[in-house]
Amino acid sequence: MVNEAIKNFNMSGLSCEELVKEFGSPLYVYNADIFKDKFNSLKNIFDYPKVNIYYACKSNTNLNIMKIFRNLGSKVDTVSPGEIFISLNAGFVPRDILFTPNNPSLDEMRYASERDIMITIDSLAIMNDYAKLNGTPNICIRVNPDIGFGHHDYCITGGPASKFGIYFDQMDEAISLAGKLGLSIEGIHAHIGSGILKVDHFIEAMNVILKSARKIEDLNFVDFGGGIGVPYRPEEAPFDLQSFGVKASDLMKDFSAGYGKELEFHLEPGKYLTAEAGYLLVTTTNKKDTPVYHFVGTDSGFNHLIRPILYGSYHHILNCSNPEGELEDVIVAGNICESGDLFTTGPDGAQPRKIPKIRIGDVLAVTNAGSYGFTMSSNYNSRPRPAEVLVEDGKARLIRKRETLEDLIRNDII
Ligand code: LLP
Repeated sequence: MVNEAIKNFNMSGLSCEELVKEFGSPLYVYNADIFKDKFNSLKNIFDYPKVNIYYACKSNTNLNIMKIFRNLGSKVDTVSPGEIFISLNAGFVPRDILFTPNNPSLDEMRYASERDIMITIDSLAIMNDYAKLNGTPNICIRVNPDIGFGHHDYCITGGPASKFGIYFDQMDEAISLAGKLGLSIEGIHAHIGSGILKVDHFIEAMNVILKSARKIEDLNFVDFGGGIGVPYRPEEAPFDLQSFGVKASDLMKDFSAGYGKELEFHLEPGKYLTAEAGYLLVTTTNKKDTPVYHFVGTDSGFNHLIRPILYGSYHHILNCSNPEGELEDVIVAGNICESGDLFTTGPDGAQPRKIPKIRIGDVLAVTNAGSYGFTMSSNYNSRPRPAEVLVEDGKARLIRKRETLEDLIRNDII
């Protein structure tokens, strides 16, 4: 199965050009139905009674989107006091929030602990520090299962080269330290990477994590993290959810039988729930040829969507203004003053792409921009961030104002 969904702008019949006319350009737009479909399809795929989805809000923290997931019954995975603050503002209650920070300061852990939010401990030193707070003794521990997978080295978070988690061979030490410190390990956690498209990679990691889980008495949950990928290229096949549902449920059933207790099974998807619901709409401002490339310039750049320059990630681009135009090989560039500021990249940098003929003023839709788009955006080159719009029940509404020039100096002190 290839990925057909990416080939069309899917916003309940609304057109890119109308949206840009109403809300301006560049613009992030999201389709609420896709968030809902994704959540429900994942939640309902398992034949295991205790499944909890913790939305990894690092992928998109707009309050309106957080509320959609909360209303669907999601809990939330957070990694910073900022994400906790946003989650509480979106109406998540402390028991539905898990805090899984990397290298947190004592103050950050205190922020969570004072709000009765469970923390995932990812090193022995951090466990010692946490105990000093005298907060809730119930903790989760993050294991590095010695394997990792992901779409880019930066997004592989398991294995010997990764800074995350307590290495699986230090589990005995972690368990005895927790005992000495009076902490009770309620859950075991792992997150091995982002953008995993092969079910067997996930299952392989789950097996290793469950081996570590067996060593810990009286757990309540096993959290396998996020990482389920989505296809970014039209020819890529989606993650086989059906097969994952069967295999993961079987694993959990077998494990519970051996462990003597039916543990909760947690997943923390970010990208899977949000990527495909969002587009970054940009308007073309320029065209020029060099001896090697036909460049098309746009009114946005890596300040708004950093994935192409950071990971060489492919994001499919639709020309909404001329969808039937003749295909032309172009480089779509941003307006940031760096040569790497391109929307059409591959692992080795610039990569021309066939797109229906682009004219100045055309509106382009950069697909799969619902995850790690706005949340990784910046004000580089002193450009304000775009507005965000949610399309729900066929209607578009503004869910975050476009930043203004005043916003750029708001916190400066003279
Ligand atoms: N849980 C934990 C503890 C995580 O660190 C992450 C992602 C997730 C869950 C969610 O992973 P997801 O399901 O979204 O793959 N900026 C990169 C992705 C970095 C993900 C980091 N951690 C990208 O744009 O591909």
